[in-house]
Amino acid sequence: MKTFQKELRRRRTFGIISHPDAGKTTLTEKLLLFGGAIQEAGAVKSNKIKKGATSDFMEIERQRGISVATSVLAFEYKDIKINILDTPGHKDFAEDTFRTLTAVDSVIVVIDVAKGVEEQTEKLVEVCRMRNIPMIVFINKMDREGKDAFELLDEIEQKLNLTVTPLSYPIGMGYDFKGIYNIWEKNVNLFTGDPRKDIEDTIEISDLSSSELDDLIGTDSADELREELELAQGVYPKFDNKAYLEGRLQPVFFGSALNNFGVRELLDCFIDIAPPPRPKESDTRIVEPAEDKFTGFVFKIHANMDPKHRDRLAFIKIVSGKFERNKNYLHVRHNKNLKFSSPNAFFAEKKEIVDTSYAGDIVGLHDTGNFKIGDTLTEGENLNYRGIPSFSPEHFRYINNADPMKSKQLEKGVDQLMDEGVAQLFTLEFNGRKVIGTVGALQFEVIQYRLEHEYGAKCTYENLNVFKATWVEAEDEKSEEFKDFKRVKSKFLAKDKQGQLVFLADSQFSLQMTQQKYPSIKFHFTSEF
Ligand code: G4P
Repeated sequence: MKTFQKELRRRRTFGIISHPDAGKTTLTEKLLLFGGAIQEAGAVKSNKIKKGATSDFMEIERQRGISVATSVLAFEYKDIKINILDTPGHKDFAEDTFRTLTAVDSVIVVIDVAKGVEEQTEKLVEVCRMRNIPMIVFINKMDREGKDAFELLDEIEQKLNLTVTPLSYPIGMGYDFKGIYNIWEKNVNLFTGDPRKDIEDTIEISDLSSSELDDLIGTDSADELREELELAQGVYPKFDNKAYLEGRLQPVFFGSALNNFGVRELLDCFIDIAPPPRPKESDTRIVEPAEDKFTGFVFKIHANMDPKHRDRLAFIKIVSGKFERNKNYLHVRHNKNLKFSSPNAFFAEKKEIVDTSYAGDIVGLHDTGNFKIGDTLTEGENLNYRGIPSFSPEHFRYINNADPMKSKQLEKGVDQLMDEGVAQLFTLEFNGRKVIGTVGALQFEVIQYRLEHEYGAKCTYENLNVFKATWVEAEDEKSEEFKDFKRVKSKFLAKDKQGQLVFLADSQFSLQMTQQKYPSIKFHFTSEF
């Protein structure tokens, strides 16, 4: 039992979120270097969709291959077990990222010093803010000219609606970048611009007014730093661990991932303050990580990476207890016991079969089609984890079977791709036609391609004018109002894969009119309400 408690306390499972190009891949790589998990730069493949090289959906296939390897990157640092969960930055994959965020205990937000807060950062931070996920901000590319530190901190507060407190502070920037003052550790770290240095030399400066600082960075810079730090202390709240853990305060670090500068400071502070596995809400109760019985949920599925085998890997976040090889666990949705002879754990870019994994960890289970995203596994208790909602897609098309001899294959393919979370399927109530909804337009090509190559089925699409899918909740399903709504809007009603009623509004105007006309009916933009 003692080992169990110790194992829990030393786990940190987090995600790095950013707008593409801010430096997420570079930072991930430097963190792995610190952990000794990889030996050289360039080892972590970017999961970015590169533009121009090949057609976009082929690029997605390539990226899918890479993202199996980078889904979970685990390493040890100072006796802490760190699990980094990969989050795609491309907006067409935003939903993947939202789902992964249900499995993290904290996040690091990377912001480009020149570009400031960008669109994807705003969206992803909003999701974290709503769930009170503890966040640390890393301002990257300090070796380049960018925004002034105060201006940027202001922008972060305004645009991301956060309360920040700098725990490190830059001395100059771009051409003049001299280093950082580490407020957390009270020392100065000088910038040499040598990316090969694994660990930088830090110089202890316990008293900022000492002339040592002047000797190090010159009197002008030293005075400027003293002034700015004093100002910062007046403007920003003092760091408070509880406020950070509750998502009310976000510490900020500055650095340059490419130059491996300011990364050690970030990591050292991270392992001190970031939370071990956190409790999670289920439909019946809140589950504590330290409970002895295992529970966990599926947040990601990777399928058919090898066209010769029907192989799927379901990624489970362990919420409580420990997961053991060859033990029977209850698949709650199917009410069926399953046991797994080769659960994978993840280390840097490898996966290995392990006997035991602990709360906070991710295990990859080979699956023949039992799992879909959001499924819960337990040691027998009947509970379901919530919080993996479907969001209203942005693009909608009818899907048609283009090869009548292959209708079974098409059905199976569509079914499995939806379980994987590639897109959402809606079935129109009045004529049974199937509609696919996706977050990005690229997904339609991906689905067509994968149906053909993995399932031998062919499909065509037909345009459909839908503005939003909204999940319908009636105060009273027997009311005249609800009956009237169902009759009048029958052509716009569909069922999602779970059988929930969905209203496909063709314009914002018609959605508003419908909301006004039927005040006792609620129209939700996510499937969980
Ligand atoms: P992402 O995963 O967030 O999309 O970003 P990634 O790490 O791939 O970084 C995007 C670009 O920014 C890369 O350049 C990378 O080298 C550069 N970069 C990352 N950190 C820093 C930094 O601290 N300073 C500077 N100056 N640049 C940084 P690229 O030219 O797009 O790619 P590459 O060909 O260099 O790999």
